[in-house]
Amino acid sequence: MCGIVGAIARRNVSKILLEGLSRLEYRGYDSAGVAINNDEGVFGHRAVGKVQGLRDKFDAAPLDGTVGIAHTRWATHGKPTELNAHPHFSGNDLALVHNGIIENHEELRAGLKNQGYVFQSETDTEVIVHLIHSALQSGLGLLQAVQTSLNKLEGAFAIAVTQKDDKERFIAARKGSPLVVGVGIEENFVASDQLALLHVTDQFIFLEEGDVVEVTRDAVTVYDLNGQEQERPVSVFNHHVDATDKGEFRHYMMKEIYEQPSVISACLEGRISDKKVLTSCFGADSAFLKDVENVHIIACGTSYHAGLVAKYWIEDLAGIPCLVEVASEYRYRKVAVPKNTLFLTLSQSGETADTLAALRMAKELNYLTTLAICNVPSSTLVRESDLTLLTNAGAEIGVASTKAFTTQLTALLITSIAIAVENGLPADKEEALVQAMKELPAHVYAALKQDAHIKEVSDKFANKHHSLFLGRGVMFPIALEGALKLKEISYIHAEAYPAGELKHGPLALVDEHMPIITLVPHNDLLDKLKSNIQEVSARGGELFVFADRDTNLDNEEGITFTEVPKVPQILEPIVHTIPLQLLSYHVAVVKGTDVDQPRNLAKSVTVE
Ligand code: M6R
Repeated sequence: MCGIVGAIARRNVSKILLEGLSRLEYRGYDSAGVAINNDEGVFGHRAVGKVQGLRDKFDAAPLDGTVGIAHTRWATHGKPTELNAHPHFSGNDLALVHNGIIENHEELRAGLKNQGYVFQSETDTEVIVHLIHSALQSGLGLLQAVQTSLNKLEGAFAIAVTQKDDKERFIAARKGSPLVVGVGIEENFVASDQLALLHVTDQFIFLEEGDVVEVTRDAVTVYDLNGQEQERPVSVFNHHVDATDKGEFRHYMMKEIYEQPSVISACLEGRISDKKVLTSCFGADSAFLKDVENVHIIACGTSYHAGLVAKYWIEDLAGIPCLVEVASEYRYRKVAVPKNTLFLTLSQSGETADTLAALRMAKELNYLTTLAICNVPSSTLVRESDLTLLTNAGAEIGVASTKAFTTQLTALLITSIAIAVENGLPADKEEALVQAMKELPAHVYAALKQDAHIKEVSDKFANKHHSLFLGRGVMFPIALEGALKLKEISYIHAEAYPAGELKHGPLALVDEHMPIITLVPHNDLLDKLKSNIQEVSARGGELFVFADRDTNLDNEEGITFTEVPKVPQILEPIVHTIPLQLLSYHVAVVKGTDVDQPRNLAKSVTVE
């Protein structure tokens, strides 16, 4: 939530900052701002809406300088107005950008008001800039003033701050929110994410919790929580492709949907042989697998849905219990942890505040070990977990998660099989599963071929306000994910139900105006699902069925049928996900919504 960028160079930094903000827009996009520190003082432009609005202001009234900070916002405290947009200023002396939440801002605000500070915004952030200003007034230098002020804050933050009289440096810090330093030649940068800086550097320093960093043109000096200077290693960004490029696609979401065959291959690479899952993919210490007697999976949103699918796989293949829970609930209750329980988190970003808090709580409990299945190698979740299995999906920019989900499922299937092998899964069964996985990229590719047909189907949703998704067994979490995708980007209200629950209430909603999207697996639940379809048909519901042709549902009257490739049962949830992603994408395009940046949301939820 919210993205920040800072830069100091020998050249003008305003274009660098604006480009950085555009690349960070996925983190929040309800307002944006830049402050430039030049010979005239510290000045800024702020604009409500997307970064383009801010660019327009810069075109109309250019602001040039060699030091600057910038921000794109996802509102938490105060509406998305220009006054609430960052940077926030203390007089004309100091400008600050912030990502995170300051929990004790009311108490701090009261104290600062008593000192005579006048607040311009409703944000929690403004207290930080006045606190630092107040510390400067007491005679401290900028670095010390920042360190002293941060000690007074409760909550999560990443900040960057620049002072009028100090054009040789800016200061940044992180605690609970992500921040990386980009190292250039005679210029240095900070940002919430490496992607924001790939146009200026590929060398990065990952700050640790509580680090404060002094950034000059020629040096980056990191101080830890205790104020001690620390060396932090520089790593080189190693993605081959700059993922911030949409290529031939109109939206990132569509690009990312189409990347799935190749990223699923990347996720499988080096993790399976012809016959087996290679347990070395969990790192040098894969010995934990033989001890796992229980699994707790914790995640949010789409990642949570991936966890729900894994519950079916783990309990079916390994025969051990698996609990799946959303992180925001898990973190606030007393959890009973059975002996030898694996704590598994799922996250695309690895920065989701609730998931991180759950991990930190779990580390205090009696878990066997902690494993993160995550897409971002440098993320906090990866760094704080004992073990990691990366999904290798490449950067996902569209707010609606697509390739991150199917690669999470792929990684979860690898994990489920690895645990199952230690719990007596026969070698021939493991080999059959592994052989099926090898075909997965091709099946996903085949599923994408329905794109044109699904685009036609999507027209039927143009005037819909509600929809129901039905699935049974392992397809129920896929129905949940399909409903989340549709509501997230098309703003059509969508609910998912296990099909057997229909007659216990939701059937009352069914009439000729209600589209019912039904996922039909080709397994022993097929006949039961066919009965559920009859229940809907009998009430005049508008049925959209996704199934393979051998289910014989393609010629049924009153059904809009979409073919899904027939695949081994274990792969069905992954392959059935593809048409639902395409459906939600095309419906959103028909409805004219902002596909990649739907209203009120942000890609990475780094606040509670
Ligand atoms: O980065 P994470 O996987 O931890 O994010 C969790 C959710 O915020 C995320 O999956 C969200 O639900 C997506 N926007 C759904 O498309």
